[in-house]
Amino acid sequence: METGEKKEMKQFITFEGIDGSGKSTISKEVYEKLKSEGYDVVLTYEPTDTMIGKYVQQCIKTQSDPFVTAFTFIADRIQHCKQIKEWLDVGKIVLCDRYAESTYSYQGAQLQNQIKNPIKWLQELSEDRIIMPDRTFLFVIQPKESLARIKHRDELVPFERLSFLEKVHTNYLKISKGERFLKLDGTKKIDEIVDICYKDIIQ
Ligand code: TMP
Repeated sequence: METGEKKEMKQFITFEGIDGSGKSTISKEVYEKLKSEGYDVVLTYEPTDTMIGKYVQQCIKTQSDPFVTAFTFIADRIQHCKQIKEWLDVGKIVLCDRYAESTYSYQGAQLQNQIKNPIKWLQELSEDRIIMPDRTFLFVIQPKESLARIKHRDELVPFERLSFLEKVHTNYLKISKGERFLKLDGTKKIDEIVDICYKDIIQ
């Protein structure tokens, strides 16, 4: 390296994007690639499969009060972080399909007309209580295109409406600034994106 600076491998990586942006497919492939190369890696996701996570899924389906939904997503994450910390402490690479930026973008959109600056409010509520990722990949795709990809799914969640996803998309772009974020074109070939993510993680 020309600068002589030593780059460290990333350990906690999150995958973000609107529904249909490809993050679940890509996080799985990145996981498989790391595993096949001998890395000790875990793939996890939010909402989790715990009791709180299941309650969160109910909140989405029944279109609960947005404040209840927001608090429950954050509670699920705080609890999830205890498990993530255990994995990180023993040296595992942790990949997480959706994390904090999902709450800031989705619940930020839900709370848009209810409080002033909901994203800031949600960030302040959770940032000191969760683990900061080393890298967050944001898969960028136009909501119209992402909806076209997922319209065949049997059960679409209420968030998967164009007008709502447009707001979520805007929020994602607004908050994904700074060195932690790497924005990727979600319309590129999967193999190409997986390769970028893999190389970025192992440096
Ligand atoms: P999934 O499709 O990735 O399983 O996520 C289910 C839905 O939950 C998806 O529409 C995004 C939404 N969601 C939030 O609204 N806030 C959050 O914090 C998370 C993690 C997911």
